[in-house]
Amino acid sequence: MARTHEAGSLHSPGAGVTAIVPSWLQAPADVNELLPQLWSKTVRRNGDGVLMVGGLDAAELAATHGTPLFVLDEEDFRARAVAFRDAFANAFADLCGGADVYYAGKSFLATGVARWLAEDGLHLDTCSGGELALGLRGGVRPDWIALHGNNKSRGEIRGALQAGVGRLVVDSLEEIDVVAQTARELGVVAPVMLRVTVGVEAHTHSYIATAHEDQKFGLSLAGGAAEEAVARVVARPELALRGLHSHIGSQIFDMGAFEVSARRLLGLHHAVQREHGVELPEIDLGGGFGMAYTSEHQPLGPAEIAGRLAEIVARECLSQGIAVPKVSVEPGRSISGPSTFTLYEVGTTKDVALDGGATRRYVSVDGGMSDNIRTALYDADYSATLASRASAAPGVLSRVVGKHCESGDVVVKDEFLPADAGAGDLLAVPGTGAYCRAMASNYNQLPRPAVVAVRDGASRVLVRRETPEDLLALDAG
Ligand code: LLP
Repeated sequence: MARTHEAGSLHSPGAGVTAIVPSWLQAPADVNELLPQLWSKTVRRNGDGVLMVGGLDAAELAATHGTPLFVLDEEDFRARAVAFRDAFANAFADLCGGADVYYAGKSFLATGVARWLAEDGLHLDTCSGGELALGLRGGVRPDWIALHGNNKSRGEIRGALQAGVGRLVVDSLEEIDVVAQTARELGVVAPVMLRVTVGVEAHTHSYIATAHEDQKFGLSLAGGAAEEAVARVVARPELALRGLHSHIGSQIFDMGAFEVSARRLLGLHHAVQREHGVELPEIDLGGGFGMAYTSEHQPLGPAEIAGRLAEIVARECLSQGIAVPKVSVEPGRSISGPSTFTLYEVGTTKDVALDGGATRRYVSVDGGMSDNIRTALYDADYSATLASRASAAPGVLSRVVGKHCESGDVVVKDEFLPADAGAGDLLAVPGTGAYCRAMASNYNQLPRPAVVAVRDGASRVLVRRETPEDLLALDAG
């Protein structure tokens, strides 16, 4: 038996619904409102209420390119990349001649994106031979590319050295020998950084700083592997130690975590100077700067992040009595994430009665966990809005789900969507530029969506949509 009032969730949320709404989510006064921090720079609604981006209307984009579709606002992506570049150049200008920004390509990379980085003066952080190949194809200077990885193949190490990458970030003691041997065979000196586990683990609003480091990345500072690695690298003529690196986590809003990690990393940097007489030229503080997925998140801007990091580095170097090394950082999501929304077409809707008298509306879209695994994998929150029209209907608490054969196939856990949203409407989910297409899968044999870049009234495919034929072609028959 239905437990909801006849009028159901079309009417005011009621006490039952209030109980299941997350504390950060407010029922909007106007369901058509776009919260600026969630949307890329050029997004707005036109006079008919249709979502516009880069001068194009969402309905036209869906008609031209199909759905689901990743719509990337080129102006926004490039403006954020340049804002990071300039903020770090300026904040660190007097300290070390400016800090370099390595865009973390794992968040989203395509040749077209690499071309923007090359044109706009960004460095590139890659973590596989595949990402490296895209960066090179897009024209990023090889010596501005870093290669990461806790288990790089010999082929990836060889390929990176042959390409002339600027830094190979070594992650284990074993890897030191492999890189040295490969460099000797190629007759080159390998530029190496050491990824140090500084004992700081940060996510979203909290961090822990301990000596305990139960994870696969890096060389432990507390356990002594980092110092051992330094000694081994400086002893190898085939290796040039460029500096130390640390990355402490993702979606970080608390700069205190960076303060602890910078202090520990610079402490080791100083120890290297004392014990080996080597003044390492560089230090990398990693990425992980938070972005807004929902109204809950209030991220810092690039200038504020760069300014705070510059203060931290200056203070630590002063207190340790050392010169400031050249600093670099590796932001991914804070550049790519907000640039993109995913456009879906709604299929079915279903009201489900919950205990306590509340109703949750399930709104099914034509994609799901194959184009956004982050909700299922990390319990991530997202937002959504009706994109193909404005609505005068009240908001109902809705859950946007995909079309996969799995009940955990959720895209947006909680959002107030217009009560009249239904089959054939388009929904847009903002903040999907990082780690959505990059982590997409073919689960249930769904073809992965296209990524289109929009700018000044034109759209351009960066990554084409897969077809059923692509999937069949992989099957050996
Ligand atoms: N540098 C290193 C060494 C990293 O491992 C990462 C992310 C970054 C930079 C960039 O972090 P960002 O600024 O994008 O937060 N797939 C997950 C996150 C895993 C990220 C791993 N490394 C997600 O969807 O949230």
